[in-house]
Amino acid sequence: MSKSLDTSTTETEQTVTEVIDTVVATTPDVRRAIADHRGQSNSVNPTGDDQLAADLRADELFEQRLLGIDGVATYASEERADVKTTDGRLHVAMDPLDGSSNLEPNSGMGTIFGVYSEQPPTVGTNLLAAGFVIYGPITSMVVARKGSVREHILEDGDKRVVDDDVTVPEDPTVFGFGGGVDSWTDEFQSYAEEVRHELKLRYGGAMVADINQVLTYGGIFSYPALESRPEGKLRVQFEGQPMAYILESAGGRSSDGDQSLLEVEPDELHERTPLYLGNDDLIDRLEATVD
Ligand code: AHG
Ligand code: MN
Ligand code: MN
Repeated sequence: MSKSLDTSTTETEQTVTEVIDTVVATTPDVRRAIADHRGQSNSVNPTGDDQLAADLRADELFEQRLLGIDGVATYASEERADVKTTDGRLHVAMDPLDGSSNLEPNSGMGTIFGVYSEQPPTVGTNLLAAGFVIYGPITSMVVARKGSVREHILEDGDKRVVDDDVTVPEDPTVFGFGGGVDSWTDEFQSYAEEVRHELKLRYGGAMVADINQVLTYGGIFSYPALESRPEGKLRVQFEGQPMAYILESAGGRSSDGDQSLLEVEPDELHERTPLYLGNDDLIDRLEATVD
């Protein structure tokens, strides 16, 4: 059992900062890669999803750059079966390109990352920082660290803060539910029926953009447990936990239907989970409906 890391040291903080700045510095190359790699790669990722050439290229770029940081010990991503290791202390888990099915229609896409004190698969309470990039009309990045959430504009590999206290608005406005009405459980159908009369539909096929709607306008995003797929679609380590860390740091809540996604202890690196993220009372109602 590795001795637990003293996560308060300046060395740890410096490495977290280096990871964030390396993600930022890599984004211009990722933006170029997604423009030049729109085709299929004829391979599938460890969870069985088709891999686009852009998924693989983004994964390569981030792995090279992030493992090049002294303090980073491992790199894990949804695109590769195993964790890549080197010397170091902290651990990075990534969804290098989230929403890559939006590449064809040129809709929103992004990158999700988490920095952990322990090697994945690991529980979300071992997160030290988490963030996501959106390659939209503007390249932006949201980062949660030490209890606060900031939004940045990224230009030429640099970042500038545009909001240093991102918090989920009290009054919710939007909702986005994945999976498709006919695949939902009866309980979730009844919840969705209530919510759709209260909020506006915002579902774009990339959770980074849909979650940013919830952070901006308040509401709920979910890829729920499905009748045919009780574990849902999204991955605990690469999507659920980092996004839960961000939402909870911004005053919202996360759930797998029973508990915070940060409490979920994945046995497998590529484990999936039902995922509900948003305003606390909407999550309370959800948990009362689906438990
Ligand atoms: P990825 O491209 O990394 O596999 O992620 C796509 C995910 C998530 O971003 C999005 O919310 C969801 O898949 C959309 O799924 P559907 O296309 O089934 O709606
Ligand atoms: Mn994804
Ligand atoms: Mn992805």
